[in-house]
This record gives sequence, C-alpha cells and structure tokens, in this order.
Amino acid sequence: MSVAKAYEFTDHTYDVIVVGAGGAGLRATQGAVEAGLRTACISKVFPTRSHTVAAQGGIAASLGNLGEDNWQWHMYDTVKGSDWLGDQDAIEYMCREAVPTVLELEHAGLPFSRTQSGEIYQRPFGGHMSNFGERPVPRACAAADRTGHALIHTLYGQALRFGAEFFIEYFVLDLIMVDGECRGVTAWSLMDGTLHRFRAQQVILATGGYGRIYFSCTSAHTCTGDGGGMVLRAGLPLQDMEFMQFHPTGIYGAGCLITEGARGEGGYLVNSEGERFMERYAPSAKDLASRDVVSRAMTVEIREGRGVGVNKDHIYLHLDHLSPAMLHERLPGISESARIFSGVDVTRQPIPVLPTAHYCMGGIPANYHGHAISAAGGDPDAVVPGLMSAGEAACVSVHGANRLGCNSLLDIVVFGRAAALRCAETLTAGASQPELPADAGEASIARFDKYRHAKGRTPTPRLRLQMQHTMQRFATVFRTGEILKEGEQKLKEVWNALPDIGVSDRSMIWNSDLLETLEFENLLLQATALVGSAIARTESRGAHAREDFPERDDKNWMKHSLAWVDGSGDVRLDYRPVHTFTLTEDIQYIEPKARVY
Ligand code: FUM
Repeated sequence: MSVAKAYEFTDHTYDVIVVGAGGAGLRATQGAVEAGLRTACISKVFPTRSHTVAAQGGIAASLGNLGEDNWQWHMYDTVKGSDWLGDQDAIEYMCREAVPTVLELEHAGLPFSRTQSGEIYQRPFGGHMSNFGERPVPRACAAADRTGHALIHTLYGQALRFGAEFFIEYFVLDLIMVDGECRGVTAWSLMDGTLHRFRAQQVILATGGYGRIYFSCTSAHTCTGDGGGMVLRAGLPLQDMEFMQFHPTGIYGAGCLITEGARGEGGYLVNSEGERFMERYAPSAKDLASRDVVSRAMTVEIREGRGVGVNKDHIYLHLDHLSPAMLHERLPGISESARIFSGVDVTRQPIPVLPTAHYCMGGIPANYHGHAISAAGGDPDAVVPGLMSAGEAACVSVHGANRLGCNSLLDIVVFGRAAALRCAETLTAGASQPELPADAGEASIARFDKYRHAKGRTPTPRLRLQMQHTMQRFATVFRTGEILKEGEQKLKEVWNALPDIGVSDRSMIWNSDLLETLEFENLLLQATALVGSAIARTESRGAHAREDFPERDDKNWMKHSLAWVDGSGDVRLDYRPVHTFTLTEDIQYIEPKARVY
C-alpha cells in the first residue's frame, strides 16, 4: 500500500486559492472575492497574527502632505535604493499605484495618524528624497509606530466584509503540479489533523519571508519561507536570494525592531566616542541613508573598536533629546519595546542597537501582475501557468538589491491587489477545472509521513540552530568568497545530518514538532539558495557587500540570479536580465549611477 493510501484527503475546489493571510494575501483575497471569484485564503496563523502586524514605521506614498512630492521622485529613489537591480517596469507600477492604494486603505478605515490639518501624517524614512535625491521628504504614511497592526486589521475586516472563506491554522505542504502547471495545493489542518487537497484555477503564494534562516532577526518565528520551499520542491527557481537586508536598529541581544521612523523623527546613532558617525559615511542623507549603507557603517564602527558597551559590540540610538510628548504620540510602540527588551527609558537613555536580519529581497520570481516566473524554455520572462506570488514571498523585483523602508507595506498591498486584478481579468468564475490525477499529492504525503515518523537522534531545534548560527556568522553584512564557502560547507553538514533528524511526536493534531520540522526544511532550502547565489555574485551591490569584490559591476552583474535547490542541497544557478524598460512612454528608464550618499 502506498503511504498516501494510509491518509485520506478532503478535496476542495475554488477559483482562487491564496496561501498566507498577511497584507499581500488579504488584499489578494479581498480583490478576488470582490471580482466574484470563489476564493479561499489558507493561513497557518490567525490572519491578524501574520507578520505584517509587526510592521512599524509606515507605508510609502508620495502624497506630499508635509512637503512637495511626486511618484517619479519615489520611483527614482526606489531604483537608486535597489542599486539598479530593481525591474523598472514593476517599480513604476508600484510608485504610481502608491497614492491610490494608500487612499483606498484610508477609505477602508485604516486609522492613520493625522497632521494638524487632518491629513495623513507622513514621516521621513531612509532613502526617500525629494527632487531626484536632493533632500529627505516625509513619504512614510504612518499610524504612530504600529502601521502594520492598523493595516492588517483593516484588510482582514475588508476580506470578511466581502465574504472571503478562510482556512485558518492550515499548513500548506506543497504545490500540486501537473505537466508544469500549478493546479492546487496540499494542506494539513493543524487543528483537527485532517489532510486536504485544494484545486484552483490560480494559486497565489503570499507566504512571507524566510528571515528565520538567521539566528537574530526581526521576523516572527513563523517567517519560514513556506512558499519558497514549495516552489523549490516543485523544481522552480527562486530569484536574487543573495540579497538579505539587515535593518540597522534591531535591539541588541533581542533582535526586535526599532523602527527607522525613530531616526525619521530625529533620532541619531553614535559610537563610543560620542560621534554621530553617519555624517562621515553619508554626508547628505546621514542617519537616513538607505539601510545597507547604515548597517555597513555601524559594522565598520564596531570592527574598528568604536562600538559601545562592555564588549564594544553595538551602537547607541539616541531619542532622549526628543520631546517625551512626541515620543509618546509618534513612537509609543518602540518606547515600550526598548523598555521591555533593553530596560531603557528612551526619554533619558540611548537604545543599544545592532544590524539585524530584517527583509528578504529574494524570493519567488514574479512579474508585476503577480505571475510566477519559471524562465523555462530559454524565455527569461516565461510564467508558470496557475501560479502567482505577492508580498515578501515574491521577488517582483521592486526592491532589487536593497529595499527602502516603507516600500514593503506598499509592495504587499499594491501587488496583492495587482494579483487579484489579474485574476479578475483572466479567470472565469466557476469555470470547470480538469480532474486532478489520481496520485496528486502522493509525493507530498510521503514527505509528510517520512518526517512524522522520523526516528533519528537529532532533534529539529538542534539542526535549525546549527543552520541559524551558520547564516549569522558566514552570510552576514560583509562577505568574502572564502567566508561564504565556509558557510556552504557548514550548511552541507546540516544537510548531511538531515537523515538523522528525529521527531518525537507522532500525532496529527497540533503537532508542533512535525510542523517545525516541515518549516525547517523550507528554511534550509532557502539558506542554501542564499549562500550559493552569494558565492557566485562576485561584486558588491545593495545588501550584498563582498569585501573581496568591493565595486558594483554593472557590465557583468546587472542581472537577476536564479537558484534551484534539489533535495540533497545542491544548487544550480542561472540568470535573467533586469527589466531596463518602463511601462509608459512618459517615464524614462533611469540609468545606473555611481553611489553617492
Ligand atoms: O523601520 C521600520 O519601521 C521598518 C519598515 C520597513 O521595513 O519597511
């Protein structure tokens, strides 16, 4: 008897299946339902616990409420911030759509902070400038420092209002692929232990990032890159995996985020000599330079012995010169985090901070409509029929080698909405779907069963920690070929230990041991893709800073990496061109420039 026969599937058919209920998933769900498509959203956590809830500083849009602004400046900053790896058609789309998207959220009830005259409050954020890089402009539309919290509750309310169906605490295991097309997904209900096959005309992966490949990160423990894992297992590639963003201000020791909005409101970084060192590294943007620049500067200060604290291994962020009333109104969340996680009263003491893994620029390659890209058959833009992706799971690529702050909340809503609009354009509600092959989902169940009954001696948390420490040490802010290769070797050791993994709980209901093992496999695949892609890229661009290749090399490397990882951890790489064209004639392609901050 095949393993699959020992389990029973419950079958479902929808027009659209959305996997993930963060900002991208909820906005895609809402849009698809609004378009009359029978849509289900599957989420491993309750929607309002998705990691979007943790976003702090704001959502970027050139509303111009507190200073002149326009979407062309926003586009220029995003291209420049991406270090010319972003696709300019997609960036144009995102920056144009930013203003209507934020107004739509406002009309949906998102409780933005307000200016004196009642408009949406906006604060400056790193890399967001007026007039093609002249001076900082307030572009981050904020709900105090809890913008993600306000956004996710607004979107969940909207999805319910339009009648979306939710499968909550269901863990999606794999894509169902038939002859190169995606026809649905297999899933495990954590609550009652049942297994499911969801068939759909279109599957949208909005499963978030894979920040938990690192030991210290701002990502929730649930950020395990489940969509990326499914894509790799389906023999499809991930894109630009070498680009992991380190946020300059994770709380020292705990890793929790202190929003860049803190510097947007006037906070600044100092070293052990009391020097505001960012003035040296980025004379124009200073503390509001883009994140890759600030994270590198902090790392250099620490390396050269100017870190603070007993071990001189972190940096201070000062907010204590700002008015307590302002801190209370604009930055209440981080004031509380600083108190809880570092025992600091921000009105009187600096916060100890350190660059911390924050955002995955790499992910499932997708175009600006949301279609996942296979790059098959020699066509770099070939798409996977039936599969879309949006949000941090996807690499559209609007962030290229480095994302600007507040372009993430924007990305998730704009491209969640774009995917839904595309579904509305291309799908017919209730259209008949081919029967799934009788063995659909069998391989997925075999994998599930293998881990469920894994009797090895190495518990999952031990292997996961080994991977996380490896990434933290060998694939961090600065890299060299030699260090990355050592990291590759250490990851191989993790792969070699995988057959000896041990899961002690055999039950089907809320088996967190098994769940974490399945998540760990997703993480390990993506850690491996990251290191493999990083070894190959012999230049420095955005968040990928190679000390052995310190220059950006547009001639050879202005291209996206594609990485395939097989079941034994071997990586295959290829490349596809950056989109150096725009969508409309009224906007010019932005030529690469040398980096000046
Ligand atoms: O610093 C922050 O509030 C983070 C924002 C972002 O990553 O977009």
